[in-house]
Amino acid sequence: MLPFSKPSISEDEMRAVAEVLASGWITTGPKAEEFERALAEYIGGGIEARVFNSATSALEASLLACGIGSGDEVVLPAMSFVATANVVVRVGARPVFADVELLSRNLDPASAESAISSQTRVLMPVHFAGLAADLAAIRELSAANHLVLIEDAAQAIGSDYAAGRIGSSGNPVCFSFHPNKNITTIEGGAVASADPDLLQRLERIRFHGIERFANGEIDVREWGGKMNLPDVGAALGLVQLAKLDDFNRKRRDLARAYLRRLPRDERLLLPADVEGHSWHMFCVCLDFLALPTTRHAVMQWFRERGVILGVHYPAMHLFSLYRRLGYSEGDFPVAERIAAQTLTLPLFPAMQESDVEQVCGLFEELLHGAPP
Ligand SMILES: Cc1ncc(COP(=O)(O)O)c(C=O)c1O
Repeated sequence: MLPFSKPSISEDEMRAVAEVLASGWITTGPKAEEFERALAEYIGGGIEARVFNSATSALEASLLACGIGSGDEVVLPAMSFVATANVVVRVGARPVFADVELLSRNLDPASAESAISSQTRVLMPVHFAGLAADLAAIRELSAANHLVLIEDAAQAIGSDYAAGRIGSSGNPVCFSFHPNKNITTIEGGAVASADPDLLQRLERIRFHGIERFANGEIDVREWGGKMNLPDVGAALGLVQLAKLDDFNRKRRDLARAYLRRLPRDERLLLPADVEGHSWHMFCVCLDFLALPTTRHAVMQWFRERGVILGVHYPAMHLFSLYRRLGYSEGDFPVAERIAAQTLTLPLFPAMQESDVEQVCGLFEELLHGAPP
């Protein structure tokens, strides 16, 4: 079976994890600190990194550290993994959705602008599948409206935008190291920021609110949770980070092979090849109604032929939780079209071009044969 995603774990990672397991200190400690320094150096721009047990925690902590809570609104794209909206609810604020652009699946700045109200405090773009959102327009929008910019870069470690790496801009940028991301710590995440006060607050929120003083005393002045990354995961992350540029090069080569080989057909919409893309996922839109068939039947048809496809994602505003805020069908036509038509093709560094050939051959068969 060819999965749509698979972590690249070799002897190096196993050795690094075994060393930590044998060291006598397996939870957060020296490896987590070393991973933070390595991430900061990799991302560049003078930022510091703080690691977390997930991107969900990293996003929640970033919102809290920026003082976001009850009565505040956060503008975000309707097309993302549901964690992007859930963290806003979690801190007591209100997610306000905006539509996305069809090819990039990223926040449409015009739609975001029309979602801004007097309650809006944060703009939270997502770099979908590793492709940077339109940060020039988004930064302008956030500056003009005095908003905090928190980037959900869960899918974008190693992506570039203009001259810099995603995460190097100084505002809070959150990454994920979940096993299907471009590097993994099993579960894990990080915040990149250049603001020393924010970084200190993140540390407190990450671990029970505890503040440590030079005289050995501690105090707890504000709430903190339990969001720390164990050293076992950090050791894995350190080895993976050293390989990230190689992984991303392989992803880019495979994505380009897909773009060369996939059939040109008006029922199949392909992603754009943009400079700086880290190709976390390769997502297409297929017009199931025009075939005519259903996504379920197509996915089953591929599975019977040894290929597992993914669905990224349903539109968040149509989940029951968010319909309760008043959203319904027709609110964000582009996000809804993507949700109805999307398929994620296999893409991970250990894949071969022959795997790409197999998937492309199946698409040709699907589009030219009897619909499943
Ligand atoms: C855009 C986006 N945001 C947030 C998350 C949450 O990441 P994690 O699983 O590390 O909590 C994900 C995970 O897939 C994601 O894709």
